[in-house]
Formats: sequence, structure tokens, C-alpha cells
Amino acid sequence: MPIAKIAPSMLSSDFASLAAEAHRMIKNGADWLHMDVMDGEEKLLHFVPNITIGAPVIQSLRKHTNVFLDCHLMVSNPEKWVDDFAKAGASLYCFHIEATNEPEALIEQIKKAGMKVGVAVKPKTPIETVFPLVDKIDMCLVMTVEPGFGGQKFMPDCMPKVQSLRENFPKLDIEVDGGLSLDTIDTAAQAGANVIVAGTSVFKAESPKDVISTLREKVES
Ligand code: DX5
Ligand code: ZN
Repeated sequence: MPIAKIAPSMLSSDFASLAAEAHRMIKNGADWLHMDVMDGEEKLLHFVPNITIGAPVIQSLRKHTNVFLDCHLMVSNPEKWVDDFAKAGASLYCFHIEATNEPEALIEQIKKAGMKVGVAVKPKTPIETVFPLVDKIDMCLVMTVEPGFGGQKFMPDCMPKVQSLRENFPKLDIEVDGGLSLDTIDTAAQAGANVIVAGTSVFKAESPKDVISTLREKVES
């Protein structure tokens, strides 16, 4: 299994102090920062009923840190934002498979723009939809809540998807996102996830450092 990476979700941070919050997480052991981008557009199959941040915020944050910025695009028409995010300094551009009809072209576009590529699947989307793409991407994100908001309950019924991915692709970075905490990490780690997004459980912790290091230990054990 690839090495553990712990990615605090900045959606749970105080956006008014974003740079300080980013430094706090890095100081406490974060490997990546997870940036949730949402467009509030409710249509077709890929709606996310919330609006969060866009490329200008990534650009502002990038001026304060070199950390790996793991950008999770919960937007319709992900093709539209690739260049803006690349210019802003995003490290990885993760789009939803439900949001495009031409995933292969989009993967090429993201690579050409100089970013790593992730593909995300919502809880109800079969994991087999990403199988033909895996050899072209850097990471697969298996959502463990319906995308849209932090602080939701982890859905263990998404674990067979993680297991199936891990069995078929032992070297792939597999990210889980939504409701990850000290209570749910064992289930996710045993299924084979190695990139752990954690918003509420890290930001609300008395010691984010302890939570981050325990999440890492559980993945590595
Ligand atoms: C939800 C986002 C998540 C969210 C995770 O749509 O993609 O990244 O911020 O937050 P927690 O860890 O609180 O579930
Ligand atoms: Zn996310």
C-alpha cells in the first residue's frame, strides 16, 4: 500500500484566517491540505447544494505555503476551471466522474496544465466507472458522505468500493473523504484507504497533532 497521507479539510477552518489555519495544520503534521471547491449548482446528477471557495482563494493561500494542495472540485463543468486552478497553484485537481462525459480528455487537460489528477466518486456511483481510468490518474477519491458539507456521518457501506479498488490497484493512492475520525479510521484503513481527509475531527480536536498522528498510525499499521 502507498504511504499514508493525512489531509485536513480546510472547509472546517476559519476562512478569515486561512493562512494561519494552514500553517497550524502543517505544524501539527498534515501532509496535504484538502481544499473543497463547490459551485452551488443543483442540476443533473452532480449537484452540490453549497458554495465554498474558488481559484482566487487557492492563489491567495499559495503565496503563504508550498504545501501540497489537494483540490476537490465538486462542480458542474470541471473542464472550465482547470487552467485557473493550475495558475493559482493547485497541486492536484480532483474532479467528479459524475460531472463529465469525457473523463479521458479532462485527465489529459489537467496533466497538460501541470497538475496531478484525481477522480472522485459519490457514494451511489459504482466504483467500476473509474477502473478504465486508473492507469491514467494519480488518485481516486471515494466519498464517504454525500458531498456538500463537512460534519456528516461516515458511510461504512462505501467500504466495499475501497476494498475492490485496493484489490485491483495495490499501488494507487485511495482517498476517503467525509466523516473520518478516530472512530471510523480503522474501517477505512482496513478497507485499503491511504489518503485520509479529515475536517471536523481534526479542527475540533483539542490536539490536532494527536489526531493527525493517530490517523497516520492506523493507516500504517
Ligand atoms: C464534503 C467535503 C469534505 C468535508 C469533510 O463534501 O468533500 O472534504 O469537508 O469534512 P468532515 O471531515 O467534517 O466530514
Ligand atoms: Zn472534499
